[in-house]
Amino acid sequence: MIYLASDHAGYPLKEEIKEFLLDNDYELEDLSGEKPDPLDDYPDFASLAARGVLETENSGGILICGTGQGMCAAANKFPGIRAALIYDDFTARSAAEHLDANIICLGGRTTDPETALKIVKIWLDTNFSGEERHKKRIGKIMEIEKEIVSQNI
Ligand code: RB5
Repeated sequence: MIYLASDHAGYPLKEEIKEFLLDNDYELEDLSGEKPDPLDDYPDFASLAARGVLETENSGGILICGTGQGMCAAANKFPGIRAALIYDDFTARSAAEHLDANIICLGGRTTDPETALKIVKIWLDTNFSGEERHKKRIGKIMEIEKEIVSQNI
């Protein structure tokens, strides 16, 4: 399952990505508003998608705001989410192979549709490398999450 969500600034790019996913038979849930609302706020959509990803096995999320930055910051507040801001092929591949990112964030005002679709394809088609060094680093992120949750910081 792919949870897709955008604010108003990411809406047009979200529509392009949605079309691509539907054309390629991906199961998806679009958590965006019915139409772009200039008064909406990206953390609301990041929160919906992050919760969806955490509650659903074998799922991932694609979040789009103006730059991808706000969505990424908000989604990464959820323990268990590894959201990555992606802007080219290299970051798309690394997000999957090194970080095992379960959410990618894109900028509707910074990334053109052609690049964005390429990024989405790479992320969907690339598996986590499973290399020990990357497992160790992700383990350290999880340790930080545990520490913060247990101290209720
Ligand atoms: C909304 O205008 C814009 O600030 C938001 O979409 C995003 O770019 C934040 O990171």
